[in-house]
This record gives sequence, C-alpha cells and structure tokens, in this order.
Amino acid sequence: MQCGVPPALRPRVEREVDSTNLELARARATDNSLQVLLAETQTAGRGRRGRHWISPPGCGLYLSMFRAFVLPPRRLGALSLVAGLATASAIAERCPTLRPGVKWPNDIVIHRQKLAGCLIDLTATGNAASAIIGVGVNVDFRGVEEPDQPWTDLARLGGGHPPDRNQLAAALIRQLDHHLVRFADEGFAPFLSLWQSRDVVLGEEVRVSGANGEERIGRARGVDEQGRLLIENRAGLHHLPSGDISLRRVR
Ligand code: BTN
Repeated sequence: MQCGVPPALRPRVEREVDSTNLELARARATDNSLQVLLAETQTAGRGRRGRHWISPPGCGLYLSMFRAFVLPPRRLGALSLVAGLATASAIAERCPTLRPGVKWPNDIVIHRQKLAGCLIDLTATGNAASAIIGVGVNVDFRGVEEPDQPWTDLARLGGGHPPDRNQLAAALIRQLDHHLVRFADEGFAPFLSLWQSRDVVLGEEVRVSGANGEERIGRARGVDEQGRLLIENRAGLHHLPSGDISLRRVR
C-alpha cells in the first residue's frame, strides 16, 4: 500500500491478529521503529469501555498507530478527540458526499449511527508519554455479523459502493499523522472550531454516565481546550474528562 503515504509511515499489514493495538504494543517491545499496523481481520478486536469490536475479514479498516509525545501526560487529555477528528477527515476525504460527525469523545457517526471509533492506549513515563491509537472504520458489513448498537458502514452510505480500502487506509494514516503533529505542537485549541463544526450533540439534552454509575443530565455545550465535555444544567457548567464515560441523547 503506497497511495502517497510517507516512507516513515508505511504500514505493516497482517492477515490476522488478535487486536492491532495489542499486536503493536507487543511488537514495540522489540522493534522501536514500527509505527503503523493494519490487519485484514482481528480475532479479539477491542472497543472502548471493555467492549468487543467486531472485525470480520475485509469488512472494515483495523489500524493502529504508535506515537511518542514529549508532553506531560496531563496535556494529552484531548488526544482521543483529535484521533476522532482525523478519522472523520479521512472519511470525508475519500467519500466527499458524506459529512461525518463526531460524538464525544471519539465516535464517528452519520445519521445518528456509528461508522467508526477510536481506542487509545496511553503509557505515561514522567514528562513524556506514548500512545497506541487504534481506529476501526466500518467499510462493508453487508452479509456478515452486525455490531450490537446503531451502526452503519460506508457501503450502505455510498449506495452499495464503498471506497477503496487501501486509499481510505492511506488517507487515515496521513490525516492521523497531520493531526497528531499539530496537536503535539499546539495542543487542542486549534481544533476547537473543527470539533464544533462536526459535533453532533452540540446543544442537545444528553445523559452522561460514569463507570461508577454516576449520571449527569444537561445540555451539551461543546468541549473546552483540554477536550473535556461541557454540560450545562441547573447546577452550572460542568467540565467532564472522558475516561470511562458514556454519552447518550436524552431524546
Ligand atoms: C470504540 O469502541 O468505539 C473503539 C473501537 C476501536 C476499534 C479499533 S480496530 C483497530 C484497533 N484495534 C483494536 O483492538 N481496537 C481498535
């Protein structure tokens, strides 16, 4: 796969792995230069919040990218939002008739249905950190096991004509690299207006649930410069870090 990907970012491509995030984490223990991994299928694809990510052969894009950051880990709170924006930009680049939205922290959705998601595995080491950024995009799931939530794929959205997976993978690698370099240099502030233009819950009544069962209902007011979700209710404006949180519309 070439498609305009710089040599340093050319991916290793595997037929089958358990999870590209896990495989990249293992590979990095012995090969410090490896940066991008693509798999045709995953036997144990991982989603956010401990979920399984269904990964049938050739039906999706299953990609992970490693990146080191010379930034204190507390400055990386918005990394997962940046990964979501990069994924939305790659989809928009290859499918110009679609308008992918983002649902905090990093779901990519169209018509309220999930099209792609990102999983970040972060390792913090003092004043630096490294991340494995995993992205799954539903390309063509016709005729195979379906995800267990409202979902869609690029084949359905394109009237039966999904984009070329190699070109989509190349666009995703380029967009991720571009977005991550900018984030490392300038933080999340330059992405705020892009986030706002793609934010599908902005101004809506939402319910946010934490892993400990704690719930908050309020109106979504976008995100702050650290990528925290802003929720407004009678008690005031709350800044919520992503962590193990789920976000749903109330209606
Ligand atoms: C989500 O739950 O929305 C995140 C899904 C992330 C799936 C991708 S597929 C490539 C990479 N490897 C994994 O095991 N998960 C991520």
